[in-house]
Amino acid sequence: HPPVSQMEETSLLRRANCRSKGGASGFKVAILGAAGGIGQPLALLMKMNPLVSVLHLYDVVNAPGVTADISHMNTGAVVRGFLGQPQLEDALAGMDLVIIPAGVPRKPGMTRDDLFNINAGIVKTLCEGIVKCCPKAIVNVISNPVNSTVPIAAEVFKKAGTYDSKRLLGVTMLDVVRANTFVAEVLGIDPRDVNVPVVGGHAGVTILPLLSQVNPPCSFTPEEISYLTNRIQNGGTEVVEAKAGAGSATLSMAYAAAKFADACLRGLRGDAGVVECSFVASQVTELPFFASKVRLGRCGVEEVLPLGPLNEFERAGLEKAKKELAVSIQKGVSFIHK
Ligand code: NAD
Ligand code: LMR
Repeated sequence: HPPVSQMEETSLLRRANCRSKGGASGFKVAILGAAGGIGQPLALLMKMNPLVSVLHLYDVVNAPGVTADISHMNTGAVVRGFLGQPQLEDALAGMDLVIIPAGVPRKPGMTRDDLFNINAGIVKTLCEGIVKCCPKAIVNVISNPVNSTVPIAAEVFKKAGTYDSKRLLGVTMLDVVRANTFVAEVLGIDPRDVNVPVVGGHAGVTILPLLSQVNPPCSFTPEEISYLTNRIQNGGTEVVEAKAGAGSATLSMAYAAAKFADACLRGLRGDAGVVECSFVASQVTELPFFASKVRLGRCGVEEVLPLGPLNEFERAGLEKAKKELAVSIQKGVSFIHK
C-alpha cells in the first residue's frame, strides 16, 4: 500500500481534475481548537459544507482522534489533523478561512471577561501563526471575551503589518440565532422566518437586540421587550447555569459558527447580498469595533451597514453598551502593547 499521505495527494489530484472539468472549486478552512466542545460539532458541520474542499483540524489535544472520526464521513472535504504548537504552521498554510474556538469556557458565576487571562494569550499565539502562514485568510474569532479577543487579533496583525480590517470578524451569530428563536416563540411563528439584528458586542449589556427592526415587521408590548432583551443578553449565562460547571454553549454555538462561516465562504465565492451581524472594525459609532450588520464579499467585510433608526429604549441600551465595550476593547489593545 502507498503511504496515506501519498494516497491522499493522489485523491486530491483526482478531485482537482474533476473540478477543472466544470465543478466549483472549494475553500480551505482551518478550525483552531477543533477538539473542544464547539470545535468537534463545528468540524462535523464544516465537513458537511459543500463549499469546503480542505478542512484542517488543529488542537493541543485529541486532534488525531477527532480527525480520524470526521474523515470517515463521505462528504467532499479532505480532512487533516494537526496536534500541538509544532504543527500549527502546517495547519494554517494556505487557508482561506480560519475559525478560532480555542480557549477555556465559563463556569457558573463567571463573566466572559474572567476568561481574559487565559484566552488572550491563546488567541495571540494563534494569530501570530496566521500572520506567518495565511495572512490573507478571513479570520472568525469565537474565543471569549470576543469584545477583547478581536482587538487582540487586530493588534497582532497590525504589529506584523498584515492587518486588513475587512478580514477579521468576531462571531456574534449566536446572539442572532438566540434572538430569532426567542422572538419567534413570542410571536408564535417559525424561527426560520425571523431575523433580528443584534448589534454592539458579545457580553451582557453590550448585546443589543434591535427589536424595533425585526423582520417580518412586528410590535411588542413593553413587557415582551423587557423579557426578550433580558433573555437574549443572558442566553449564554442560561446555558452556563444549565450545564452547571460542564462548560458553556457548544452545540448551538457550532451551529451559529457554521452558519456564519458559510456566509463568509459564500461572500468569498462572490455571492451577492450576503449580510450577517458581526463584531468588526467599524465607524458606525465612535468605538473602533462594534457589531452590526455587515455585507460579506470576496474580500471579507465589503460594507459595514449603519444601525438604522433606534427607539428610545434602544438608544439608552446603546449608551450602556458603548461604555462597557470601550473598556473591553482597550483591555485587548493594551494586552498586546503591555
Ligand atoms: P472547550 O474547553 O470545550 O474547548 C476548547 C478547546 O480549545 C479545547 O479542545 C482545548 O484543547 C483547545 N485549546 C486550548 N488552548 C489551545 C491552543 N493554544 N491552541 C489550540 N487549541 C487550544 O471550550 P468550548 O466550549 O469549545 O469554548 C471555546 C471558547 O469559545 C470559549 O472561550 C468560550 O467562551 C467561547 N464561546 C464563544 C461563543 C461566542 O458566541 N462567540 C459561544 C460559546 C463559546
Ligand atoms: C455564549 O454566549 O453562549 C458564549 O459567549 C459562552 C458564554 O460564556 O456564555
